[in-house]
Amino acid sequence: MNHFQRKRGQLYCEDVPLAELAGEVGTPAYVYSQATLLRHARVFRSALRGLDFLACFAVKSAPNLALLRLLAGEGYGFDIVSGGELFRAIEAGGDPRRIVFSGVGKRADEIAAALDARILQFNCESEEELAQLSRVAVGKKAIAPVALRVNPDVDARTHPYIATALASSKFGVPAGRVRKAYRLAASLPGLHVEGVACHIGSQIASIRPFVEAAAKMRELVVRLRADGHDIQRLDMGGGLGVPYGDGPEPASPQQYGEALVRALKGLPVKVLLEPGRLLVANAGVLLTRVLLTKEGHRGRKFVVVDAGMNDLLRPALYDAHHEIEAVARPRRGGAIVDVVGPVCESSDVLAKRRRLPPLSAGDLVVLRTAGAYGMAMASQYNARPRPAEVLVEGRSWRIIRSRETYKDLIRGETT
Ligand code: LLP
Repeated sequence: MNHFQRKRGQLYCEDVPLAELAGEVGTPAYVYSQATLLRHARVFRSALRGLDFLACFAVKSAPNLALLRLLAGEGYGFDIVSGGELFRAIEAGGDPRRIVFSGVGKRADEIAAALDARILQFNCESEEELAQLSRVAVGKKAIAPVALRVNPDVDARTHPYIATALASSKFGVPAGRVRKAYRLAASLPGLHVEGVACHIGSQIASIRPFVEAAAKMRELVVRLRADGHDIQRLDMGGGLGVPYGDGPEPASPQQYGEALVRALKGLPVKVLLEPGRLLVANAGVLLTRVLLTKEGHRGRKFVVVDAGMNDLLRPALYDAHHEIEAVARPRRGGAIVDVVGPVCESSDVLAKRRRLPPLSAGDLVVLRTAGAYGMAMASQYNARPRPAEVLVEGRSWRIIRSRETYKDLIRGETT
């Protein structure tokens, strides 16, 4: 369910016509619907009723301060993977006691900043990282609350680039070494063992891998407690997928919640979750304008738009599918086209072999489900200023990140 719907043929975000918005803020622009984001945030939380839980939004999926602030207001904590994300989460009003720090490599200064902020938990991914965290904590006369991210070795059946819990993955401590790693954690000064964590991948459609992981993690919690570790929290990561218009229809948040509640009920721990995509993907679109149409070899038709792979990287990087449609009432007829950007790379294709109504220069189109890992992965490649971000609420809207200027492109550079 999202609030990008047609009224009298025209595509709106909530009560704002996207064509009007494009006229005001220009293109390309990321447009978010506040009602959609809040709805997803509430549906996710209510699906977990029955568990003692804390949902920590994965900042990496949509790091804009205004979006983070809305989620903080809904009781969300944050899952961060860098000092920069810590800075963002706190700037947005996030409660440090609801922040978990994930990631396979953390710098000493990032760890120090997180200790100063008194975050809830460090998710460590290796024995070396435990030793590093211990050194930094001792140096600051602090105690670091720690969980180990375990690799539960379940197949999430997702794109190989975003499956993270296979035995071949760089993430987490292999299951066979976990008890030993906990003994190490318990013996190191400056550390306090408080939890255990996993994250099995992203854009996962089926409930099965989550249930499998929950069962393994449940067993592990029991074993670690029997070993004498004070495990108070179980972090199950993020990863539930969203419908992009291709592939299998993912399980609903309700099904996911029910399955987790069933698998973890009665376990005397607080359950942490790190949803990203599920909350924001459908709450955002990328609004872009057609620059021209052209015909290639053997009549292949191209629609060239003013957004490129620097603005939305997912199709080029993962062959990801985003639904694309005209903002104006679609004209009759149409053809199979490739929608491409202006970037000088053959991989700069936003939508391949799609049937679209006739489009010409000046027409507006949107790429849907672009709220997660869209602006988050945008770059200035080809010296292209990054797009504006706009948040719509009912009839009103505001710019939550200005379009970058040419000055922004050279900030910090010298000749
Ligand atoms: N927690 C950890 C430790 C993660 O690594 C991730 C995502 C999440 C939570 C959030 O996962 P989500 O609920 O959003 O699936 N750029 C890719 C996705 C990369 C995901 C990386 N980790 C994409 O555009 O599809």
